[in-house]
Amino acid sequence: MLDKNLIGKNFSASAAGYDQHAQMQKTMADRLFEILLNYELQLNTVLDIGCGTGYLTRKLAERFPHARIEGIDIAPGMIAIAEKIKLDNLVFMVGDGENLTGQDYDLVVANAALQWMSLERTFDRVACLLRPDGHFLFTTFGPRTLIELKESGFNVNEFPRTNEIEQLLKAEFDTVFLATEVEPQHFPSVKDLVYYLIRLGAQTSSQEKLFRPEAFRHYKERYSDGRGGVSASFELIYGVFRRRG
Ligand SMILES: C[S@@+](CC[C@H](N)C(=O)[O-])C[C@H]1O[C@@H](n2cnc3c(N)ncnc32)[C@H](O)[C@@H]1O
Repeated sequence: MLDKNLIGKNFSASAAGYDQHAQMQKTMADRLFEILLNYELQLNTVLDIGCGTGYLTRKLAERFPHARIEGIDIAPGMIAIAEKIKLDNLVFMVGDGENLTGQDYDLVVANAALQWMSLERTFDRVACLLRPDGHFLFTTFGPRTLIELKESGFNVNEFPRTNEIEQLLKAEFDTVFLATEVEPQHFPSVKDLVYYLIRLGAQTSSQEKLFRPEAFRHYKERYSDGRGGVSASFELIYGVFRRRG
């Protein structure tokens, strides 16, 4: 069970340094944006769930100046930074992706955020938020994400497989596009990897589990990258679904 108070608190605490450390999330947002442009959708209303500091939200507002673009995030600290982006067609709000109300959105996006939410509850909300034939575009993380940490005995969240995602969406959505890729990332040490995750707000487990020395030792021995550091895998999932009419 995800502790939403803790998630909001951790992301608020890491908001100031987030943009500096979230290169992978930005790359995911850029790729998702490219995928979106392939579909040449007519957009009047767009919602970005878990918008963070507004990187993707801003790109959407600039590319679609006649559409109303809304970004919501559970962390007030993230929204405070996003609100510094001043564009006429852009609004930000604190909100929980699992409990959103509203209707007739043409597009709902979520970049690198769904892993912090109950997929069942959020997908159910997205189906209500979208108009018939509206699109849901997202990226999230698959089960090969941080397998090295998990295998070394660290506490790692469970990540869904693409077929589980499809299964959850299939009652209300048609699959337009669904793909995964595994991206290796390099870190100078296991400690740097753990601090990277903490700086991104990505820790929900107790600190003493994160800092078990034998887990550090195992990781370092088993997953050395041959250049003095360690490697870590991230399985990135890209999805485009259309709400059935
Ligand atoms: C890794 S960040 C990604 C932020 C942004 N989408 C990006 O691409 O940079 C995940 C975001 O999801 C937000 N989040 C987590 N749980 C949420 C929830 N239940 N509702 C809304 N936002 C949530 C966090 O506060 C955080 O800003």
